[in-house]
Amino acid sequence: MQLSVFTLALSLLAVVSALPLAVRDVFVPPVTSPKTGDIWAVGSKQNVTWDISDAPAQITNPNGTIVLAKGGRLDLKHPLASNFSILDGWHEVTVPSVPAGDDYTIVLFGDSGNDSENFTIAPAMLAAEIEL
Ligand SMILES: *[C@@H]1O[C@H](CO)[C@@H](O)[C@H](O)[C@H]1NC(C)=O
Ligand SMILES: *[C@@H]1O[C@H](CO)[C@@H](O)[C@H](O)[C@H]1NC(C)=O
Ligand SMILES: *[C@@H]1O[C@H](CO)[C@@H](O)[C@H](O)[C@H]1NC(C)=O
Ligand SMILES: *[C@@H]1O[C@H](CO)[C@@H](O)[C@H](O)[C@H]1NC(C)=O
Ligand SMILES: *[C@@H]1O[C@H](CO)[C@@H](O)[C@H](O)[C@H]1NC(C)=O
Repeated sequence: MQLSVFTLALSLLAVVSALPLAVRDVFVPPVTSPKTGDIWAVGSKQNVTWDISDAPAQITNPNGTIVLAKGGRLDLKHPLASNFSILDGWHEVTVPSVPAGDDYTIVLFGDSGNDSENFTIAPAMLAAEIEL
């Protein structure tokens, strides 16, 4: 029993010490906004925010790109923003003129991508009514 606990501890140690080497420069910042329940009006300016508290000291690619996805399908041809520092933690985007829907997500790319929770894009007029 003690031996297996010791072995487990050893292998955990091995994993922990191997991890920083393997993922050292790969930073996948979790998107914190938009989130479920958010409604973005077409044409409005919105902030995409992400958590940079786990950012490593060195990042291979500090250039971020923000892509809109609908139903999990990324619109890679029309990024909402690019060429900003992934260490900023937020970036303002203008909601493009896309069909209304509640299955939109924002995908943030640096070294790798992370997607937001699903949120809603509403036509400019409808969203204005909802906000009233
Ligand atoms: C993206 O962020 C979420 C929330 O923090 C996290 O659970 C998930 O593992 C991340 N995805 C990747 C591919 O790192
Ligand atoms: C986005 O966040 C920045 C910094 O907090 C703020 O200055 C800016 O006004 C925000 N923009 C919008 C559209 O909320
Ligand atoms: C977002 O919506 C898509 C398509 O409707 C669904 O497959 C996915 O599980 C949803 N994701 C979350 C985080 O709710
Ligand atoms: C990217 O951003 C950098 C720093 O802000 C700027 O010097 C450069 O001109 C930008 N490149 C493009 C293609 O916009
Ligand atoms: C993005 O990458 C380009 C080319 O590699 C570089 O010139 C630019 O300064 C970078 N922008 C930022 C904000 O880091």
